[in-house]
Amino acid sequence: MILTINNVIIVAFITRLFSKTPIFYLSNMEIKLLILSSLFAGAFCSKFPEEFLFGTATAAFQIEGAWNEDGKGESIWDRFLHASGRENGDVTCDSYHKWQEDIDNAKALGLSSYRFSIAWTRILPNGTLNFINQKGVEYYLNLIKGLKSEGIEPLVTIYHFDMPQYLSDLGGFLNPQFVDYFEDYARLLYQLYGSYVKYWFTFNEPFSICSGGYGSGMTAPGLSLNGDGIYQCAYVLLKAHARAYRVYDTEFKDQYNGKVSIVLNTNWFEPNSTSTEDLDAQERILQFYLGWFANPVFIGNWPQVMIDRIANRSKLEGLARSRLPEFTQEEIDYINGTYDFFAINTYKVYKARNTEHGISYPDFYFDMGVTYENKYFYPEGFRKLLNFINDRYNPGSVIVTENGLETTDYLNDTDRITYLKDYMNSALEAIEEDKINIFGYTVWSLMDNFEWGSFERRFGLIRVDFDSPNKTRTWKESAKWYQQVIATRSLDN
Ligand SMILES: *[C@@H]1O[C@H](CO)[C@@H](O)[C@H](O)[C@H]1NC(C)=O
Ligand SMILES: *[C@@H]1O[C@H](CO)[C@@H](O)[C@H](O)[C@H]1NC(C)=O
Ligand SMILES: *[C@@H]1O[C@H](CO)[C@@H](O)[C@H](O)[C@H]1NC(C)=O
Ligand SMILES: *[C@@H]1O[C@H](CO)[C@@H](O)[C@H](O)[C@H]1NC(C)=O
Ligand SMILES: *[C@@H]1O[C@H](CO)[C@@H](O)[C@H](O)[C@H]1NC(C)=O
Ligand SMILES: *[C@@H]1O[C@H](CO)[C@@H](O)[C@H](O)[C@H]1NC(C)=O
Repeated sequence: MILTINNVIIVAFITRLFSKTPIFYLSNMEIKLLILSSLFAGAFCSKFPEEFLFGTATAAFQIEGAWNEDGKGESIWDRFLHASGRENGDVTCDSYHKWQEDIDNAKALGLSSYRFSIAWTRILPNGTLNFINQKGVEYYLNLIKGLKSEGIEPLVTIYHFDMPQYLSDLGGFLNPQFVDYFEDYARLLYQLYGSYVKYWFTFNEPFSICSGGYGSGMTAPGLSLNGDGIYQCAYVLLKAHARAYRVYDTEFKDQYNGKVSIVLNTNWFEPNSTSTEDLDAQERILQFYLGWFANPVFIGNWPQVMIDRIANRSKLEGLARSRLPEFTQEEIDYINGTYDFFAINTYKVYKARNTEHGISYPDFYFDMGVTYENKYFYPEGFRKLLNFINDRYNPGSVIVTENGLETTDYLNDTDRITYLKDYMNSALEAIEEDKINIFGYTVWSLMDNFEWGSFERRFGLIRVDFDSPNKTRTWKESAKWYQQVIATRSLDN
């Protein structure tokens, strides 16, 4: 609309060039329009940068199905859900067979990037190098080449929750030797796909991996070790991340010149009140959620508030040492700086409230001393998070690797459009006004998929009919909307 007004004024100017009326003579109406249009130009006409990576994201376990086909090994999620008797990931969206249709949809959306993960067990059924499954190798080669041939940049997650069961039997993230297994796997992927892939993510959401799988036990492998296993998981995981980063840096960087980082996740937290206690609680929860992994990788070592509080509580519990493993200086240096950009997943905003717990049993949430509540969607909180990341970690560049809205099953998803528009607008403000170098945004998710135990929780731009043998894909209104956003690089539609 504003563009039209500007055009009218430009046409008016040009017309006057050839008329006898002086150019500087504008009518009151024209002056008002000119002022109005320049006022609104910034708000409505801004565009995402030319090279911006518009994407969607998925994960192998959530879309591929074919859980035991063509030599794929068993993962902890296969085992975890089969044992529970709940709905499982045996088929999901059947992307193992329908990958070409998924690429077609990605192309039709106009995506410039597609984030997906590689199932470790498809390539190495037991996680180890003694047996390389060629069918698995080919599957991802086809996918990657297919994307490249459509001009879609593959953004590859090396580990998205689905550890080979065999490695979990050996202790998983509680086994220090996991670092070596992960090194072998990552190097193999760099060798196989490094000539095509420019963006690698070592781990997706270490917070979710350690707090769900080794803390609450709500996710695979289902261990409830909330006082100590949760921290030991983070300790091993961060060393594995650093190893995979350094392998690329020393053995592949010169040849392929790709980038490697880790995908972190956090909600944004507002203080529940302006009291000093709640402001401290806000800072503390951001440290326990984001800083727990971001500090070691981006600035070195655990957050001081975690070191102090966990040591103190461990002592009061009668332990001889802190439940938070201490990094040696050598380990701090090895992990510090192992990133080429900051990748963040974020969905919601909560209010944080200071809640000190006495000494009872060891627990991550008692260590943190914060409760959070009143979930809400708050795009301005997203912008605050982007600024927090930029100010605290100064990473040089940032990519939003997941953001999206969960709904039930319907095609006219105006609520998803509103959510995405508000959040993307906040990202755009962060780029233009806060001068943060955000180079991409990948919506979770390309299509409805298996939300770790549930088919009801739908995040897709594209609907999947899980009841049909065909797993039929149908575009929702949000897909059409996103297609327009990408085509115009603008939210003004
Ligand atoms: C994986 O490990 C299991 C248990 O040790 C073994 O039975 C199986 O043969 C192994 N599979 C491969 C492909 O190495
Ligand atoms: C959070 O703040 C609100 C508003 O001040 C207050 O009513 C509520 O009690 C606080 N929450 C808790 C659990 O303290
Ligand atoms: C991490 O690396 C940066 C950059 O080299 C350095 O300034 C910082 O002191 C390091 N952090 C620690 C805790 O050693
Ligand atoms: C240690 O914890 C106790 C009990 O929560 C608290 O009174 C004390 O201030 C804490 N000390 C430090 C150094 O955090
Ligand atoms: C979707 O819903 C909105 C709001 O109710 C309505 O205006 C729009 O026409 C609907 N679109 C379609 C395609 O049904
Ligand atoms: C299967 O899916 C494709 C693509 O979504 C569609 O064209 C085709 O009609 C579907 N077949 C059946 C039997 O539903």
